Amino acid sequence: MEGRVVERAFAKLNLTLDVLHRRPDGYHEVEMVMQSVSLRDDVDITLRPGGGIRVVSSDPALPADLGNLAGKAAEAFLNHVRRREQGVEIHIAKRIPDRAGLAGGSSDAAAVIRGLDRLLGTELTEEELSAVALSVGSDVPFCLFGGTALARGRGETLRPLPPMPDCGILIVKPGFSVSTPALFDALDGCRVRSRPDTRGALDALGAGDLRALAGRLSNVFEQALPEAERRTVVDIKLALLSAGALGACMTGTGSAVFGVFPSLEAARRADLSRFGAVFAVSPTKRT
Ligand code: C5P
Repeated sequence: MEGRVVERAFAKLNLTLDVLHRRPDGYHEVEMVMQSVSLRDDVDITLRPGGGIRVVSSDPALPADLGNLAGKAAEAFLNHVRRREQGVEIHIAKRIPDRAGLAGGSSDAAAVIRGLDRLLGTELTEEELSAVALSVGSDVPFCLFGGTALARGRGETLRPLPPMPDCGILIVKPGFSVSTPALFDALDGCRVRSRPDTRGALDALGAGDLRALAGRLSNVFEQALPEAERRTVVDIKLALLSAGALGACMTGTGSAVFGVFPSLEAARRADLSRFGAVFAVSPTKRT
C-alpha cells in the first residue's frame, strides 16, 4: 500500500501532577490534569512498499528509527494489525524541546498511530488505539486525542474534562534535563510536603474559572529535584509570576516550567529568555 498523511503532534502540560504510590509492576500510580497546547511537531508519514520503518527527524540529536518513540509506535501498530510487511517512512519537523516534560516524543508516537490507522484504513476502536499507545509509553494514550483530561493509572486511564478557559501560556525550557526514572526514584525516597488540590482544579475547570485553576497548578516532582535544579525552577516560577502569570508550575518530570496568563498577548510580553528557550502557546481542544 502507498499513501501519505501529515499529522500534527501537540505538546502536553501537566496542570496538576500527583504520584500516589509505586505499583507491583514498578510503575507509579499517578493522578494528573493534562492539557494539550499549540506548540507542535509535524509528523509526515508515508507508506512504502517493501517493508522497513525509517524515521528522520529535523533534530539530529534525536535517535533515528526504532530508537525513536515514533519508530516504536509504527512497529507496535503494524504488529497489532498484522501488517509487518508494510514499509513506513516518517519525517518529523521538531519544535517541541526534548526531555522537557512536554511529551514531545510521546506526541510524535501518538501521531504515528493515528496516521497509520488512517492510511491503512484499519479503523481501530479508541480502546485498541489506546492499548497500542500504552505499549509505547505512559503519556502516549493522552496524546492520541489531547484536550483537557484527568489521567490516572500509569497515565492511560483518561477522563475528558471541560476545556481549559481561554488564556495564554508561556513555557520556559531551562538548560538542564532530568531523567524520568531517576526522578520517580527520588520521589519514592523523599517526604512529600504538599500535594496538588486535584479536586479544586477539577472544580475550577467545571466553573470555567481561570484564576482558580491557575492558583492550583502543582507538581509533586518539584519537591524531588536536586537542589540546584529546584532553585532554578523556583526562580523561573517567581519570574513568571512577577511578569503577570496567574500561576506557574513545572510540567511532568521537567525541566520545562510554564506560567498561565490572562491572554496570549500577555504571555508573549513576558520576557524570560534569560532562563532558556521560551514558547508562547494556547491550550488546544480534544480532537
Ligand atoms: O511509560 P514510560 O516509558 O514513558 O515511562 C518511563 C519511566 O518512567 C518508566 O520506566 C518508569 O520508571 C517511570 N514511570 C513510572 N510510573 C508511571 C510512568 C512512568 O514509574 N506512571
